Amino acid sequence: MKIMRVKSQVGKAETASTDVLVLTHCEGEGLAKQDAALLDRALGGSLRKLLQSKEFEGKANEVLLYHTQGKVPAKRLILVGLGKKSTVTLETIRQAMGSAAKRVRQAKVGSFTVALPTVMPSGMSSLEVAQAMVEGAILGSYQFTVYRSEAASDHAVAEMKVLIPQTSQLRQVAEGIRRGVATAEATVFVRDLCNHPSNVLTPTMVADEAKAIAKAEKITIKILEQKDMERLGMGALLGVARGSQEPPKFIILEYNGAKKKDERPVVLVGKTITFDTGGISLKPAENMEHMKADMTGGAEVLASIRAAARLKLPLRLISILPVAENMPGGRAMKPGDIVMTLAGKTVEVQNTDAEGRLILADGLAYAMRYKPAALIDIATLTGACVVALGQFAIGMFGNDVTLKEQVRRSGQKAGERVWEMPLWEEYFEQLKSDVADMRNIGGRGGGMITAALFLSKFVGNCPWVHLDIASTDWSERERAYVPKGPSAIGTRLLLQYLIDRSL
Ligand code: BES
Ligand code: MN
Ligand code: ZN
Repeated sequence: MKIMRVKSQVGKAETASTDVLVLTHCEGEGLAKQDAALLDRALGGSLRKLLQSKEFEGKANEVLLYHTQGKVPAKRLILVGLGKKSTVTLETIRQAMGSAAKRVRQAKVGSFTVALPTVMPSGMSSLEVAQAMVEGAILGSYQFTVYRSEAASDHAVAEMKVLIPQTSQLRQVAEGIRRGVATAEATVFVRDLCNHPSNVLTPTMVADEAKAIAKAEKITIKILEQKDMERLGMGALLGVARGSQEPPKFIILEYNGAKKKDERPVVLVGKTITFDTGGISLKPAENMEHMKADMTGGAEVLASIRAAARLKLPLRLISILPVAENMPGGRAMKPGDIVMTLAGKTVEVQNTDAEGRLILADGLAYAMRYKPAALIDIATLTGACVVALGQFAIGMFGNDVTLKEQVRRSGQKAGERVWEMPLWEEYFEQLKSDVADMRNIGGRGGGMITAALFLSKFVGNCPWVHLDIASTDWSERERAYVPKGPSAIGTRLLLQYLIDRSL
């Protein structure tokens, strides 16, 4: 998808010359202090009438398009609701912009202008509001049309302008736009990768994408091939890949924007299963096509490092992607097989569908070589996560109070919230094996927890957070700025964390 250009412009709603002017309005408030007040006079009081008749009330995500008939320079107005003034948050604004951007697209215009809301969420700066506006508008416009021959001519809006009343806000808003474009761009990239089917997006293709990014952004890249993994002893990742005709890849990217070049890095590890059939422990057919998005975590850590480089964040960042396809086959790993991990621990594979923790075990063990200041892994890891948390919360586990709190805050700000789950040692009895150091499934109960506890055995004392995004990675319905299908949720959380950490 081509991403719209975003600019800022100092000016007033009454005099802005544009195809569409988008204005926000809070429910139950008169026009007096709202954005539309000054325009209303020029329009002969018709906005007031619309509100009085309750044709438009300002409820969250309510949208109304109005033709101005030449009474003001803006050809059309779109009013979008923010709901009750006291409940306005960055998320309200993101959603309102997503709803408005969809209406703009329907109107088939090439560009539009949005006024910075006069109602600011409490405690938020114009930088943060501008960032949220841009994220909502770009992500609400998302379409994936690569494989639809008739959709090539679908209308796409080319430009958005953020209208600000005072020159003094220009710098903050410009920085908000810069960050908003970067986080939205990263999210779009992840959605695209997740939408591509597994016959196109193979492990080799993921490696090619990573190479292209490394070249374009001047990021260092190293790709381990199967023989390298054999030499190193990545038995868990190799075990998962055995059933597939597609060779596995192990991708390491490094971006160093730190002032002190030898600063301890932040290391991100993303589960990258390009398709999860379950292997010999085959999954049922229903919804199996969703498993083309079992590489969401990997796509997110790849998008994050690209964005960090584009934003020139002053930090050292390493992204690691263990990549494989989980297939049944004549040479596939079988239940009861024992693999030797890179960390030197043996694992009895009782279920080949619990493959994510296997590839992550080797990914995390490799990450430890960098002595991370913070280690975060992100994975579509367990169906149990979906059962426990539904659609709106990411499962979070970790061994470091400070890191967990930072991740929680960045998630809150990004509108991609985490919920902490217990990482208690008691649960380890479920992972005991009679024949190896541990087994890869935890039996009945606490499936999201035992998966996380399994991972914890590969991170030592390093400050670490694990994010289970199986709950959020695929949206069952279209929302204001999240499409039906791959959501890429987690991307903006990671980037917000990197931004908050480095600035
Ligand atoms: N990729 C799946 C988890 C998943 C399920 C992600 C639904 C998104 C939506 C993972 O590899 C898996 O199959 N997990 C198993 C583990 C079980 C065998 C212990 C599961 O959750 O059923
Ligand atoms: Mn699986
Ligand atoms: Zn999986």
